[in-house]
Amino acid sequence: MELSEVLLKRRSVRRFEEKAVSDDVIQKLLHAGMSGPSACNRTPWEFYVVKSAVKLKELKSVATFSKYEAPLAIVVCGNLSRALPVQLAEFWVQDCSAATENVLLAVTDLGLGAVWCGVYPQKRVVERVKKCLNLPEKHIPLNIIYIGYPKEEQPERDQYSEKRVHIIE
Ligand SMILES: Cc1cc2nc3c(=O)[nH]c(=O)nc-3n(C[C@H](O)[C@H](O)[C@H](O)COP(=O)(O)O)c2cc1C
Repeated sequence: MELSEVLLKRRSVRRFEEKAVSDDVIQKLLHAGMSGPSACNRTPWEFYVVKSAVKLKELKSVATFSKYEAPLAIVVCGNLSRALPVQLAEFWVQDCSAATENVLLAVTDLGLGAVWCGVYPQKRVVERVKKCLNLPEKHIPLNIIYIGYPKEEQPERDQYSEKRVHIIE
């Protein structure tokens, strides 16, 4: 698929077929995620691949606005041990967001569907997800990406608005 097509086709999908996502496909998604840019190339990300039906069910109960049934979730975490020092540390959020968007675009390109469900900066949800997945102290979950073969079709959409463009010459 052309990149321009992938960009418009990427929509949030919240209903999935039961069909499992193969390890081969998961590898491609992780490669896409880790190809993203990061501040000073610190790559401060960790990807938790949740396949366990038990853990997927548990995740559903911890995050308020993301009670979706999917065969797979990737939880993108910032690794504070790899983050930049002091006030630059917060760049991990942007780094992990870029990685997440890369995963979503790869998902679309491979004919799957996904939804990005925000975790950080909701403190209580962060703590619940950490506990659920037994994450190390320094791994902070930014989001849960639910992934699977789509059971619903979202139309392509172009949100371009000239009004939101500000040209400074
Ligand atoms: C930071 C962030 C947090 C989000 N959290 C949720 C969420 O908790 N639950 C959900 O269903 N969708 C969530 N979404 C998906 C948005 O609702 C969705 O991207 C938006 O409505 C636009 O629709 P689209 O993805 O189809 O373009 C989130 C998206 C982002 C970027």
